[in-house]
Amino acid sequence: MSDPDAHQLGNLDELKDGDLQVFEDIGDYGIVVCRVNGELFGLEDNCSHADTPLSEGRLRGYQLTCPLHGTSFDVRTGEHSGPPAYEGVPCFKIELNDGVAVALPQEDSNKKEKGASDGLGDFFQTR
Ligand code: FES
Repeated sequence: MSDPDAHQLGNLDELKDGDLQVFEDIGDYGIVVCRVNGELFGLEDNCSHADTPLSEGRLRGYQLTCPLHGTSFDVRTGEHSGPPAYEGVPCFKIELNDGVAVALPQEDSNKKEKGASDGLGDFFQTR
C-alpha cells in the first residue's frame, strides 16, 4: 500500500447490510464504517455539531443519524441534512485490496474549515 493516508481496516465480510463498525485508532475521532446495499462507506466518527460519536446513532438507508440532536449525515458524501449541525463530516472511500478493506480520505469531503460559513453557521455553531 503506497498511499500514506490509506488505513487498512481488515476483512469486513462479516459486516452485514445496515450494520456499522468503529475503528477508533484512526485520526482524531476514528472512523465509522457502514455497509449499505452491499457497499462500504466511511465517515469520521464525530458529529460536526457537538463532538458526539455518530456510531452511537441509527443507520437508515444511506443516512446515519446523530444520537444527540438528530442531524443525519449521508454516508456516501458526509453531507448533513440540516441544523443543528452546520456542516458535514469528512468521509472516506472504502476500497477492497485482496479482500482487505482500505479507507482513503476523500479530498473533497467536508473538511472542517474554520471561518467557512453556509449562512447558518453563525447561528448554530457551538464551538
Ligand atoms: S451533536 Fe450531533 S446533532 Fe448535535
